[in-house]
Amino acid sequence: MTRLNQPLHLKSLAVSNRIVRSATWEGLAAKDGAPTAALAAFLGRLVAGGAGLVITGFAFVHPSGRVAPQMLGVESEQRVGDLRRLAEALHHTGGKIAVQLSHGGAEAKPTLTRGCPLMAPSVLEGMKYRRLVVEMTPGDVAGMVAAFAAAAHRVRTSGFDAVQIQASHGYLLSQFLSPRTNRRTDAYGGSIRNRSRFLFEVFEAVRGRVGNDFPVMVKVNASDFVDGGLEFKDALWVMTELARLGADAVEVSGGVAASGDEGPMRTNIRAGVHEAYLAPFAKKVREVVAGVPVITVGGIRSYEVAAKLLESAADMVALSRPLICEPDLPNRWLNGEAIDSACISCNRCFLSGFKKGGVACLKGLHSEEDPWALSK
Ligand SMILES: Cc1cc2nc3c(=O)[nH]c(=O)nc-3n(C[C@H](O)[C@H](O)[C@H](O)COP(=O)(O)O)c2cc1C
Repeated sequence: MTRLNQPLHLKSLAVSNRIVRSATWEGLAAKDGAPTAALAAFLGRLVAGGAGLVITGFAFVHPSGRVAPQMLGVESEQRVGDLRRLAEALHHTGGKIAVQLSHGGAEAKPTLTRGCPLMAPSVLEGMKYRRLVVEMTPGDVAGMVAAFAAAAHRVRTSGFDAVQIQASHGYLLSQFLSPRTNRRTDAYGGSIRNRSRFLFEVFEAVRGRVGNDFPVMVKVNASDFVDGGLEFKDALWVMTELARLGADAVEVSGGVAASGDEGPMRTNIRAGVHEAYLAPFAKKVREVVAGVPVITVGGIRSYEVAAKLLESAADMVALSRPLICEPDLPNRWLNGEAIDSACISCNRCFLSGFKKGGVACLKGLHSEEDPWALSK
């Protein structure tokens, strides 16, 4: 028995161990965002693989927020029947499932947004789809707050166990947090208090719709790792406030599309090599921010490191790419097998998501294509 095996409560939700499947776009929903049998089977393998909490890939809360093809949608009441069937199927396998609520902002893809303009805090030179991006009015912000809250309510009604608000990786809420992408002069721009106002409004509206007993987690960048982006000092303040507002867990991530080698999914990470590259930030969050479980993510590749992180750096460890490679790695770790993940962090899995059949491990298949560029 290691700390990995210890159960944990997120509110009333009993999670049987400390391993989380970090939100990972699967590329397996239907074209319109509906769950499919293939998505259910993919998530089912993760649940059966032993992670105590499985977080779905980002699910768009509004049609204007779609970032990637075959992304799950939680944007419409018409989805509830299908979502309920998905939750039932996954619970049948015995897991706990959270849905990640997201909106791509200026990173959304015009071919996927059903004619909706792209929403952003500010319209900036150099934006790929600049012509199609609108600066959100306070009314747009209010509408989006309501969209997040309605989506969270759908998730709860459908029988899932928790939601995670995505405020990381350069998507809409993260664009508001960053002084690089948020140049507003109104109540949503300027100081960190103003830049985080939208996120806090989303959090409180979500909480208002799902109730106090339903876990609401948030994924936040510790740093954007880019000039002029969100910095750790401000991120720490944001996480402190989220804890005060009653967040049930914070997942500490980092990086945006423009961060180069310091993006959210760093390459050339493997067991013993640059492992757990964001753990020092999670550790600091855990030291400074009281009363909220901290999830560390990013390059966790060995049993030893995963178990060690739980001693002082985090309350839970989250993995993404290793579980694409080996969905049953958690069970093996939980059974005390001190093995390394076979993942070499090449990011070919991300590329494969754009192909029929969705995200899969293509280890060994090398190409010069840049996954982020391909996703644009
Ligand atoms: C194929 C793929 C899809 C991803 N999709 C999401 C997503 O939907 N939401 C999110 O917050 N992060 C997403 N990520 C980032 C992961 O959750 C995680 O933060 C990152 O990959 C680092 O963890 P790892 O080293 O265990 O892979 C994705 C990563 C990959 C490889």
